[in-house]
Amino acid sequence: MVDRILVIGSSGQIGTELVEELRTIYGNENVIASDIREPQIAQNGPFEILDILNKVQLLEIVEKYNVKEVYLLAALLSATAEKNPSFGWDLNMNSLFNVLNLAKDKVIDKIFWPSSIAVFGPTTPKENTPQYTIMEPSTVYGISKQAGERWCEYYHEKYNVDVRSIRYPGLIGYKSKPGGGTTDYAVDIFHQAILSNNYECFLSENTTLPMMYMSDAIKATINIMKADSSNIKIRSSYNISGMSFSPKEITNRIKKYIPGFSISYKPDDRQKIAESWPKSINDQHAIKDWGWSPDINLSTLTEIMLENLKQLLPLEN
Ligand code: NAD
Ligand code: SER
Repeated sequence: MVDRILVIGSSGQIGTELVEELRTIYGNENVIASDIREPQIAQNGPFEILDILNKVQLLEIVEKYNVKEVYLLAALLSATAEKNPSFGWDLNMNSLFNVLNLAKDKVIDKIFWPSSIAVFGPTTPKENTPQYTIMEPSTVYGISKQAGERWCEYYHEKYNVDVRSIRYPGLIGYKSKPGGGTTDYAVDIFHQAILSNNYECFLSENTTLPMMYMSDAIKATINIMKADSSNIKIRSSYNISGMSFSPKEITNRIKKYIPGFSISYKPDDRQKIAESWPKSINDQHAIKDWGWSPDINLSTLTEIMLENLKQLLPLEN
């Protein structure tokens, strides 16, 4: 039997697109999707209902399919975790321990676990934020990601666990909906531009954040996992960068295609979270160690999002 891949939290924003790409590369039957909820799109390979907090169920599925690689995507994101800090901590940490321990016990060989720009906090330098810098996250989500990074490095150093990680910025795609983050506005704005020609934004107009088009995030994920282990010098998590923009800047881009589009601003609790995060990211280590480079800039992203959502949205509603 060939080694197989398990994606945990596969029905979410990233999992929906990652499973599709992994199946194209490794074959439909070799990529097992799993989540506590049904997938957003029809599956062309195995799907299992799995609660990552249930260690017995996790081991059963890993053994059933002879899984050797795990992509752990299940988490509460920044805004959702602030509403339920205790459960956010529980899910984000114990999901990681359950998977790290499978690798420590040699049941699986390799793990991908995403961190986030949320590991940085209000005291971090905001422009061109370095890989190594002050990290005092102020959200439960950021605290859980920072602790997770330390545990990944610890398991690598102490138990030789092959765990690889990326600090994703805000991710934008048209194939799946975001799951409760502070950067979700950058997806919603495209939906509302097409559906109603206006958008009420929960961040203020000049709030600049690091962002990335989903295909670049998937490319980074697959490339860091394919890289030779000796090239992965950082076992906490790598900075990666795509683009940075504010609500005002993305609005101006959308207006080039939809001149009547208008935006209003009503900042809520997420504004404070956004203000605690970097504006732009220095990713020189990812470039040097495993050849990272993004393909999509703001102008291309805007074209792709509007073109595809114009086709999809009338069908959904
Ligand atoms: P999402 O919320 O869209 O998806 C998470 C999925 O996990 C959901 O489908 C949910 O049903 C599932 N899940 C929740 N609890 C579970 C459980 N107990 N067992 C199994 N599955 C469970 O999130 P996403 O945007 O796809 O993010 C995936 C990962 O990437 C997370 O770790 C997130 O922190 C990280 N990340 C995402 C972004 C982004 O912009 N999307 C940015 C930085 C980091
Ligand atoms: N997009 C994520 C969030 O806003 C960043 O980790 O929570």
